[in-house]
Amino acid sequence: MRAAVIGAGVIGTLHAEILAEKNMLCAVCDIDETKLKKYNCAGFTDYKTMIDTVKPDCVHICTPHYLHAEMVIYALDRGVNVLCEKPLCIKREQIKAIIEAEKRSKAQLGVCLQNRYNKENVFVKEYLKDKNVKCAAAHVAWRRTKEYYNSADWRGKYATEGGGVLINQALHTLDLLQYFAGMPDKITASVSNLTLKDSIEVEDTAVIQSTSGAGISLFASVGCAADMPVVITVKTDNETIQIYPGAVMINGVMAVIEKTTEKPRGKECYGSSHGLLIEDFYKRIAENRRFEIDGEEASKVVRLVLAAYDSGGNETEV
Ligand SMILES: NC(=O)c1ccc[n+]([C@@H]2O[C@H](COP(=O)([O-])OP(=O)(O)OC[C@H]3O[C@@H](n4cnc5c(N)ncnc54)[C@H](O)[C@@H]3O)[C@@H](O)[C@H]2O)c1
Repeated sequence: MRAAVIGAGVIGTLHAEILAEKNMLCAVCDIDETKLKKYNCAGFTDYKTMIDTVKPDCVHICTPHYLHAEMVIYALDRGVNVLCEKPLCIKREQIKAIIEAEKRSKAQLGVCLQNRYNKENVFVKEYLKDKNVKCAAAHVAWRRTKEYYNSADWRGKYATEGGGVLINQALHTLDLLQYFAGMPDKITASVSNLTLKDSIEVEDTAVIQSTSGAGISLFASVGCAADMPVVITVKTDNETIQIYPGAVMINGVMAVIEKTTEKPRGKECYGSSHGLLIEDFYKRIAENRRFEIDGEEASKVVRLVLAAYDSGGNETEV
């Protein structure tokens, strides 16, 4: 398989590193030419030219959120497999267009929700099989500063990021809540900018409560004084399951889970499962099996986020 990366920024560098280790990296594209110099492969500043000339088997889309939809559709329409960074996209009409493109393409789309591959989450997903989940709740208490938001033009703006903490930092956790508990039919949510009014137009803090269907609750903020570990709690009929980074407690007793052997890459909050997800994606393509986190699956968390933005504190259909 020959793979190309679009967007050689923070996370694109990590994707390119993994692909280079597997001798799969054939090209990199970034509008900033200076970012292409470090790669020992073909470099492009226009993604369409790269796809049309290199004709890779797969592209990894690691660009700002607002570009995901058009890039996913362009590649799928040319029969090129796509691994897209989260979020899938930022608008409802983009979800529809992507799923239609997926249906008419012979290529596969996968979305990088790599925390589903963390050992503790794999364990809990399996443990919950055949159990009735009453509620999954979590808090994301992280810190993102003015300097972080100033580090790239697209951050902190509705047009280019699509929102704030919900569509970016807390997206993995919200996805896990629905992965464990199921999709709510209705939610109510409130979003606000408590600490970064002078630097971003999007929310730094949000609360989501489901009101009908599956039970989920999310409390998320990037206005915390420091990055705290994310803790998810799942209630079944008679158990309380607490998920910590690398550990699981069931009714107060530590569960024995497999330890990860993956080396951490990039920032601590990315976890160490990018490599596992990428490996699984290519294995499934090679074996002609469906990759589980496809357009439909990855759109669930985007639909939750968009309903939260619409809610304004009122009950809203997801
Ligand atoms: N899965 C994760 O844990 C995780 C972690 C970090 C970032 N991400 C996601 O990865 C994406 C990128 O985030 P980042 O932090 O790397 O951002 P970044 O700003 O560091 O990188 C984005 C890169 O895209 C390039 N770019 C912009 N427009 C382009 C275009 N038209 N064609 C080609 N390149 C273009 C920019 O020059 C930049 O180098 C976002 O969707 C983000 O949410 C996911």
